[in-house]
Parts: sequence; C-alpha cells; structure tokens
Amino acid sequence: MCGIFAYVGRQKAGGILLEGLKRLEYRGYDSAGLAVADKDKLRVIKKKGRVEVVAAKARRARLQAVMGISHTRWATHGDVNDTNAHPHLSDDSKIALVHNGVIENYASIKKFLESRNCSFQSQTDTEVLASLIAYHYAKEQPEEGKNRFLESVRKSLHHVEGAYGIAVICADYPNEIVGARKGSPLVLGVGNGENMISSDVSAFAGRTQNVVYLDDGQVVLITRDDFSVTTMMDESVQPVINRVDWEIEESVLGTFSHYMEKEIFEQPTSLENTMRGRFSDDGSTAKFGGLNIAARDLRQIDRILFCACGTAWHACLVAEYLIERFARLPVEVDYASEFRYRNAPLDKNTLVFVISQSGETIDTLEALRESKRKGFRTLAFTNVVGSTIARETDGGIYQHAGPEIGVASTKAFTSQILLAAMVALYLGRLRDLSFNDGTEIVKALKKTPGLVSQILDQADKIKAIAEKYADSRDFLFLGRQLMFPLALEGALKLKEISYLHAEGYPAAEMKHGPLALIGPECPTVFIAPKGEIFKKNLANIQEIKARKGPIIAITSTGSDFPEDLADDIIFIPQSHECVTPILAAIPLQLLAYYIARHRGCDVDKPRNLAKSVTVE
Ligand code: G6P
Repeated sequence: MCGIFAYVGRQKAGGILLEGLKRLEYRGYDSAGLAVADKDKLRVIKKKGRVEVVAAKARRARLQAVMGISHTRWATHGDVNDTNAHPHLSDDSKIALVHNGVIENYASIKKFLESRNCSFQSQTDTEVLASLIAYHYAKEQPEEGKNRFLESVRKSLHHVEGAYGIAVICADYPNEIVGARKGSPLVLGVGNGENMISSDVSAFAGRTQNVVYLDDGQVVLITRDDFSVTTMMDESVQPVINRVDWEIEESVLGTFSHYMEKEIFEQPTSLENTMRGRFSDDGSTAKFGGLNIAARDLRQIDRILFCACGTAWHACLVAEYLIERFARLPVEVDYASEFRYRNAPLDKNTLVFVISQSGETIDTLEALRESKRKGFRTLAFTNVVGSTIARETDGGIYQHAGPEIGVASTKAFTSQILLAAMVALYLGRLRDLSFNDGTEIVKALKKTPGLVSQILDQADKIKAIAEKYADSRDFLFLGRQLMFPLALEGALKLKEISYLHAEGYPAAEMKHGPLALIGPECPTVFIAPKGEIFKKNLANIQEIKARKGPIIAITSTGSDFPEDLADDIIFIPQSHECVTPILAAIPLQLLAYYIARHRGCDVDKPRNLAKSVTVE
C-alpha cells in the first residue's frame, strides 16, 4: 500500500524520482506526487491519477533540485483527489512528507495542532504528521550538536500510534532527507555519490544494488555522500549492507502487453528457478538451505498451521492437502487477519508457516509475530528477498520466482504451490513416504516447467474461449479436493482484474446454494482432471447441464471426458497429483487475463487494489 521513494545525489531529482515511482506503482495508484527542495523553498507537484500524470506536470516545471521525496498512493484516509495526494506540506510549508501506513491517533494530534492555530488542507492522517514535525521543529531547541530537523522527526514519532514508513524533507535542510519506519517497510539504497530511501528495492533498479533493510523503530538520515541509522531513542545502529541480486531487465515489460501476461508466460522459468538445487543427490526428496530446523526437530512437530492472505492463502490450502497426503501431518489453514486476533489455542508442537509473495503483508507479518511471541517455531515462503517476513521468520524458503509486478499474483502463486509440494515431499520422506514414492514425486516435479509450456502453447485457444464468455456477468468455479483451492483462485483472479462476479466452491457444495445461480447466463469453469473423484465431477457437471448452465471444463488429456458434456474443454497434461494444481492454475490465469483484456480493464492495476497490503 503506497510506495515512497526519496533521492539525494548529484543529478536532477525529478526524473529519478518519477522513474523510481513508476516501479512502485504496483503498491497503489490512486494519486502520485513529489516534493523537492528548491533553494530554501519546498515545491510540491501532485495529482490524482497515475505517475504518468504527475510526470507530465513535473516535466513542465523543469525542476533543478538534486534531492526530493515522492509517493504513489493507495487511499486510506480521505477521497482520491489532488489535495489528498502526497507529499503533504506542514501548515508553515517548512516540512514535506510522504507516508505509507496509517496514523491511528491522527484525530487527537490534529485537535491538538488546531488548538495551536494550525490549519489543514486535506483529510489525510499524513498531513497531520507533517504539521506535528513542523510544530516540534519550530518549538524545540535540540541539545548541542544535534540535528534539529532529525530531532523534530524523532520527537514527533514518539507521539504517533499506528504504522508508518516515511520520508521527510525540510526547507532549511536542502541536502538532507529523514526516513523512519514502524510497521511499514523501508529500505535504504546506498549509491555512489547518491543515497535513496524506498518502500521497496525495486525503485533502486539501475541506480544501486547495495541496500540496508531498516528495522521497525529505526530512523535514517541520508545526504549525498553519507547516511546514518539510529533508533527512536537515538542509539546508533551498525547498518548491514546487502547486495540485491536482480537484473533490471526482469522488471521490464518487453514485448508483452501487461506484466500479468509476461508473468504468466514466465512460469516455466520461474518454476525452474524455484526448484533449482533443491533436490537431494539421490533424487528421492527435497532439500532446503534456510529452514534452520533440524530433521530431528521437524519429526517432533505434531501439527502445522498455515497463515496467509489472498492468493497466498489459496497456496496454503494446496499445502494442506499435499502435506496431509504425503506426510500424514494434520494441517490447519487460517486467514492471517483472523488468526492474529483469534487467540487460537495451539498445541505446543505446532509449526506456524506463513506464505507471502511480498513478505510485507501486514496481517501475515503480524500473524508471524504473534506466533513468535507465543513461542512457536515459524517458517515462511516469501518471494521478495530481504522483506520483513523473510527477516523475522525463524527459517524460510525463498521462492526465487523473480519480481512480480502485476497486482494479480500468477507466477508467485505457482511457485508457492511448487514449494508446498516440495515441503510435503520433504516432510513425507521424514515420516512414511518411501524412497520409491519420493523419487516418483521428484521426477514428476522436475517435469513441471515443460508441462506448463505445453499449456501456454494453447494460449490462443484459451483466448478464444475467454472472449466467448467475456460478456457474462457471473461465473462459478468448481473443483474438488486439490482443485478446490484452484477454483477459489480462478474466481479471485477473474473478479480482481475484470470486476465480474465470480465464486469458487468445492464442486459438491454447489447443490447447497450456488446451483440457484445456474442458467444460460452463468458459465461454470469446472476443474476436473483425471483422478479418483473424476466420476463424481462428471455427475456434478451433468447437474449443471440439466439446468442449461454453460460449462468450460479443464481436464487432463486422456481423462475420457465426454466431449458433449462441456461447451468448451481445455486440456492440461496428465501428471502426478502434486503437479496438477500448478497445471490447472495456468488456464485459469489465462482465462481471467484474456477476459479482462477483452473488457478493456487495466489488468496490471485493477481498481481499488494494491499488490502489497501494508495496512490492516
Ligand atoms: C494482495 C495482492 C494479492 C496477494 C495478497 C497477499 O491482495 O493483490 O495478489 O495474493 O495481497 O500478498 P502477499 O504478498 O502476502 O502474498
């Protein structure tokens, strides 16, 4: 939610800020803006709409400043309009600030400042913080040798409740930027004669690969040639510089129309990267470098609790089926947002596993923290290296799927399922799964990228099917067992990017309500691969056909699916049951993508959504 990016260096800041901001746009795109220090005045350019709109304005302004802050917004407090766009200026125009998060006690701070004749332009919580900093800046004399600007930020943050990642500039300090974080991510980029602060390392692409991941409660001061990290209590922190290992090309669109399309088609590679180097030499199990938990200790685990949000939660459901099947370990899955406030009684030998592409989703992060606080061992799958969850979990496995820019998750989802299968295999081999079963699974998993390519080769056929149904208003997605989470994911994908009503259900449950929706106007996407319950699926399809509901079937090659039973059939290759969920995901992603594209929707930036949800 919201992306912030700040730069100080030798080059003109305007263009650099806007370029970084474009890479952060996936975090929110309601409005965008920047502020620069121009001589001893702050100039703010901001506008409702995309970064491009602000870029046009900024170009006309011919900004000369070599430092500034910028923001792309996902609205929490206040309407989506020019006034509520960030940066926000303090009442006296001395301070400009960009913010990601929510200041929960903003109303009482506002009241206090109003009693001191401070007035406000916007409805945001952020403007209140800008004026609070200005208030302390004007009022307090810092101790000898201390930086007045920095101290006023620190002092103000002591009064703030809630979450924030901020970058602040002050008209009297045109060479300095102050950043701070609590609950929202913030990264420092250490360049050559330039330094940066951002919500996410992607904004540094092409400028620096040296980054310092800031922790909650830390405050950073950057100048062109220097930086310092301190705590809120002004204790100095020894920063650890990490090297980010990505190629700039990975986040470039290339010949694709949308990032979502690019990311769907990247899956043979992303899956290959997820698996690379992670099978034992004897080819019978998986191995992971960062679990930080010995096989002996893993054997003592009696239960696993998975927590996540959105698409990652669907990956947890797949993990539940696979781990219970291969390892015979009971698994529970909870929404992170529910778990964190539920005070669930957990058995002492429970392992808590969280899944998060971004590693920043606040509910997932807090579920992890709550589990750690209670003394549970925690593990995580994350895609973003160095993300907060990756740093706070006891152990974990990186997805290595590469940067995912499209708001709707695709390649990160399939890599999460792949890791779930590999963890299920690993846990299974620690328990009852035989050497032969293990080698069979490893062989099957290794074939996955090739099978995914075969499905991608059918993209034109899937596009034609998508366009045939693109005018329907309602869709039902059905599947049983391992295909149930896929039905949920298919429905979610469609609704988030095409704004059509779609519901996912376990197939047999349709008789308990959803069947009432069925008719010629409501197509059903039925995921029915070959398997033990195939015949039951066919019976459910008959029930839909009897009510004149159009059927788009996703089934496996060689499944004996009666051709006249479905209006359209998409075949996925026959494979091991742990691979099938990955294969089934591909046509679902393509269907959603092509329907949304046909309807003229903004596929990569669906309305009201953001990729990284850092507010509760
Ligand atoms: C947002 C994104 C989804 C994602 C979910 C969880 O809603 O739009 O694509 O699945 O957050 O994100 P995470 O980064 O924790 O996997």
